[in-house]
This record gives sequence, C-alpha cells and structure tokens, in this order.
Amino acid sequence: MKILVINGSPQGENSITYQTMLYAQALYGRHEYKVIHAGARIKQLEKDFTEAEDMLKWADLLVFCYPVYTFLAPSQLHRFIEIIKEKKINLSGKYATQVSTSKHFYDTTAHEYIRENCHDLGLSYIRGLSADMEDLLKKKGQREAKAFFRHVLWSVQNGQKEIVANNRHEAPLLDATLNNIPVFQKKDNIHRSDKEIALVDDYGEEDHTLKSMIDRFVKTVPYKVEVVNLREFNFFGGCIGCFNCAASGVCIYKDGFDVLLRDRIQKSDATVYAFKIKDHSMGYRFKLYDDRQFCNGHRTVTMGKPVGYLIDGHLQAENNLKTLIEGRSQVGGNPLAGVATNELDVDAQIDMLCKELDYILVHKYKQPANFYGVGGMKIFRDLIYKMQGLMREDHRFYKEHGFYDFPQKDKGMIAGMYLVGAMMKSSFFKKKAGKMTEGMLLPYKKIIDNARKGKC
Ligand SMILES: Cc1cc2nc3c(=O)[nH]c(=O)nc-3n(C[C@H](O)[C@H](O)[C@H](O)COP(=O)(O)O)c2cc1C
Repeated sequence: MKILVINGSPQGENSITYQTMLYAQALYGRHEYKVIHAGARIKQLEKDFTEAEDMLKWADLLVFCYPVYTFLAPSQLHRFIEIIKEKKINLSGKYATQVSTSKHFYDTTAHEYIRENCHDLGLSYIRGLSADMEDLLKKKGQREAKAFFRHVLWSVQNGQKEIVANNRHEAPLLDATLNNIPVFQKKDNIHRSDKEIALVDDYGEEDHTLKSMIDRFVKTVPYKVEVVNLREFNFFGGCIGCFNCAASGVCIYKDGFDVLLRDRIQKSDATVYAFKIKDHSMGYRFKLYDDRQFCNGHRTVTMGKPVGYLIDGHLQAENNLKTLIEGRSQVGGNPLAGVATNELDVDAQIDMLCKELDYILVHKYKQPANFYGVGGMKIFRDLIYKMQGLMREDHRFYKEHGFYDFPQKDKGMIAGMYLVGAMMKSSFFKKKAGKMTEGMLLPYKKIIDNARKGKC
C-alpha cells in the first residue's frame, strides 16, 4: 500500500504527533511511505504545490497527522486543504484517516473538521486516532497505536469506509440591507457611548455579502464599533508551537499581533466575528488569528464580555462549526449573544444580535457554563496545574480566579458523603430515605420562601 503522511504540525520532523507515524512505519514496514511536511513548509507549498500534488496522486491512503490547535487543526493544515480544493485535485476513491495528539481539549471538533473535508474531497474515510501527547510513551498508548494502524490497513484492504449522506443546503444566501434600521431606546442611566465593540472580520473586495452584513451591524448596534480586518494585518506567519510564549508571554514573531490583540480587541466590551464559511470552518486566516492567540496562554482574559457572530454561509448544515462556536464562548466565559447568518431573514437576524448584545451589556447578563465550558476548563485546570513551572502567567491567573477547584479540596462534601453512604447501608435509615430527600430540599425551600418575601 502507498501511504502518504500529511504532517500538519508546524514542528515538522520534531512533531510529537509525527512520532506516532514513525512508530507505525516501524511496525508495518512492508508498505511504502512518503511524507509532506505541510505544517512546516506551507509557505513554500503556497508557491509551488507540484511535488505535493504528485504525492497526493501517488497515494492509496492519506494520513492527516497533526496536533490539535485551538479546537481544530493548525492554520497551516487549513491552508493546505484549501490549496487542494483550489487546485481541484481529484482524490476520489482514495482512503484517508487521521492521527492527532493533544490534551483532548476539543479534539472532537478537530477530528470532525478533518472528516468533513475528507468527505468533500471524495476520500473514503476511516475513523482516526486521537491520542494524548504522551500516549506513545506508555505501553497502553503503544498498543492503541499499533491496533489502530492494523485496523486502518485492514479497512483499506477490505473496502471498509464510512458511508455518509450529503446534507448540503443549497438555498440561496441573502445580502443584508440598510432598510428599516431599528432605533434603540435611550436609557438615561446607560452610557452607551462609553462602550466599544470590536468587530474582527475577514473580508476582501469580493465578499459583498459579508460586507453588507457588517454594514448593517455597524449601522444598527448602538455602540462605537472598532473594525479589525484580518486581511489588513501583516501576519508574519502562523503559530509554530515553539512554546516560547508559554514562559515569557512574548511571541517569537515581531509583527505586533500581541498589541493588536490586547489593545484593540481584548480591551473592547464585546467582540463580534464576521466571516464566510470555508471548508467547514472560518477559513485559514481566522484560524491563524485563533492560533496566534496562544501568546495569551490559557487565560480567559475577556471573561464576562459577550461575543457574537456574523456568518455568510449555510450554518444550519455545519453542526461541527456550531459546536465550535458554542465551545469557544463557553470556555472563554463569554456570553454568546447570537449568530446571525444570511440563510433566512438576514436583516432581522442582525437586528436581533444587536439587541441581544445591548441587553447583555446593559444588564451584565451571564449564564452558568454548560458541559462545553465546565468540561473544557477542567482539562485546562489540570494541564496548567501540572505545567505551572512553565506556564507561570497561566498558573497565576488560575490561582487568582479560583480555577483550581479540585474536587479533593471539598473535604466537607467528601466526609458528608461517607456519612450518607454508611447510613444508606443500614436498614433503619433505608426506611427513612424518603425523609432524607425531603431534608435535602430544605435549603432550596428556604431560598424560594425568601424570594416570595422579596428577599433576594
Ligand atoms: C497554538 C496551540 C494550540 C493548541 N490547542 C490545543 C487544543 O485546542 N486542544 C488540545 O488538547 N491541545 C492543544 N494544543 C496542544 C497540542 O495539541 C499538543 O501540544 C500536541 O501534542 C503538539 O503536537 P506536535 O508536536 O505534533 O505539534 C495546542 C498547542 C498549541 C501550540
């Protein structure tokens, strides 16, 4: 079998994920292997894709091998996939799978992104391997990697693949207008002029539709809007995962991105992102913007500030992108004011987003985190605690904000549960169990009574 490894890690040969591929190659050496270091060589590949195209055509099986970067793949791999699509390289009928390493923080959305793109490219997809970055160092991880590749080879040899229905939505997308702009009621106690919204967008001359949405938003929302067009910013490159910023907080690129991020975007009272859906994500440039925020570590510095989205595209057909949007706002602690798309009633959707943003800003409205937020932050909590020696700024921030809520710290609760457990073993207390649940409700009843008396 001819196997092409598409190494999406900017670390190239030094990539941790790539070691898993070298391990597979060592175990299953009777197959032919080639590798494209797409993550490390993306700038050269943008200039000349010939060699990569030949390798893609040569292969029977493609293995997308990459680290999970901010909910998805590194921006460099996004660009690589964009180029394959731009060049309309025919890969149909070939097999594909993926191998990632990460700390399992939103590895699911990353895998889904690659899977969706494999289907777009007509590739026969085989479920991938999502390993922890240390897995290969342990016997269990080695067994899992070995079993995974064995299964992949068996799948190709036996024509096993995923069969999916095309759920594409082809309804025409709409332009927004400047008709009937709603008027926001003046409230004397609210100084809207003090607040500012950062609108981070990725639109070029050709994106009239996205521009029409941005224009309506700017005209409608009753706040000053600071527009940051990512195409106008001269990024020196995508994040290369060097971890230089982990200790110092300073990025190796001297292109001023950290200043843009801190002084123009994070300082604002809310952020709205505007983009056109591309390859089931927000496109390469936005991904680059996301990855480069690694210079901010894992600190949720904009906690409490709302976010919103203006999206040109069929979001209803993009479940993974929807999850990602929800996940991002949850983990950042940013109330999601809404996502306006141009699939239906675009003007009304933008107006609703503006009103919702206004409501959240005026009332400081917040909701508790759901599974995406709670689960995500638990992974970060454990990671930063273990890596505190390196990620000092993160550690300080987590201590300051009480993020280290390890369950073992709740000693009262643990002791209480031992007591309840012991009581439940006794037949006398079992009979009284009904009374116990009533007892558990007493504190709730007290709160409701107080609310009835207007004491809350
Ligand atoms: C910019 C950046 C973003 C990252 N985002 C995530 C993430 O969203 N989820 C996660 O579990 N790990 C994340 N990581 C950790 C990497 O996935 C992990 O270190 C990986 O094993 C590196 O693999 P590599 O050496 O092959 O590049 C991120 C690392 C960097 C540098």
